[in-house]
Amino acid sequence: MTKIIAHRGSKGTHPENTLAAFKEAVRVGADGIELDVHLSKDNQLIVIHDETVDRTTDGSGRVADLTVAELKQLDAGSWFKQFPISQEVPTLNEVLQLLEQEKFCGLLNIEIKTDKIHYEGIEALLVQLMQKQLWSFEYMYSSFHFSSLEKIWSIEKNQAIALIFNSSDRKKLLALEIPFITGIHPNIDWTLTHLDELADFPKAVRPWTVNDKEKMKTCIKDQFAGFHTDFPEIALQIREETRT
Ligand code: G3P
Ligand code: MG
Repeated sequence: MTKIIAHRGSKGTHPENTLAAFKEAVRVGADGIELDVHLSKDNQLIVIHDETVDRTTDGSGRVADLTVAELKQLDAGSWFKQFPISQEVPTLNEVLQLLEQEKFCGLLNIEIKTDKIHYEGIEALLVQLMQKQLWSFEYMYSSFHFSSLEKIWSIEKNQAIALIFNSSDRKKLLALEIPFITGIHPNIDWTLTHLDELADFPKAVRPWTVNDKEKMKTCIKDQFAGFHTDFPEIALQIREETRT
């Protein structure tokens, strides 16, 4: 069954990459949750999409230049017009604890955001944190940045690893050739122009970001392993309708 993965939590209805967005994703019954990870100035794993806090908080500056204490002063939720709610910028550890509390038992997709900034040692810190305890949910790693995935693989052989890309036949071939890459996460528009060749692609395909109902139906009909959406509740309804 095609997994419905909540992109940055339930990003369409709640401020992205906040505890509120992740809690909502669990509430609606998403099969998976995707989040983005950066490193703070004091080497803590921080869940946020951009390299800077400017777009999604009331602060400014690079995550890499702010300590957790500084990041915790910011409001990461009130900017979101559809559902303004005061939220902290979460650490990855806080998100993991929330998912445990909420008894999430789906798939957590951790995206390592190293495509623009090189965060020294982020991969080792991440694996160290994830291996610290047994989780109630499955998890996997993904990145646009191939060398981060290589680093993960060098220290963690038991989890799924996916290469993210926008639109690149070359990246698809790379993912096919490299045994430790277990899946691809391509842009949905590229995906839709490559449906024939993806039909027999031997690794998991989980496109992003699928918010259009017809595109959701195509992903389900083509039996992709999953897809990322800002609206998991709608996607779950669509999947239910296509089964009946
Ligand atoms: O992992 C899929 C998707 O999250 C990649 O794009 O920019 O939303 O992190 P982005
Ligand atoms: Mg992402």
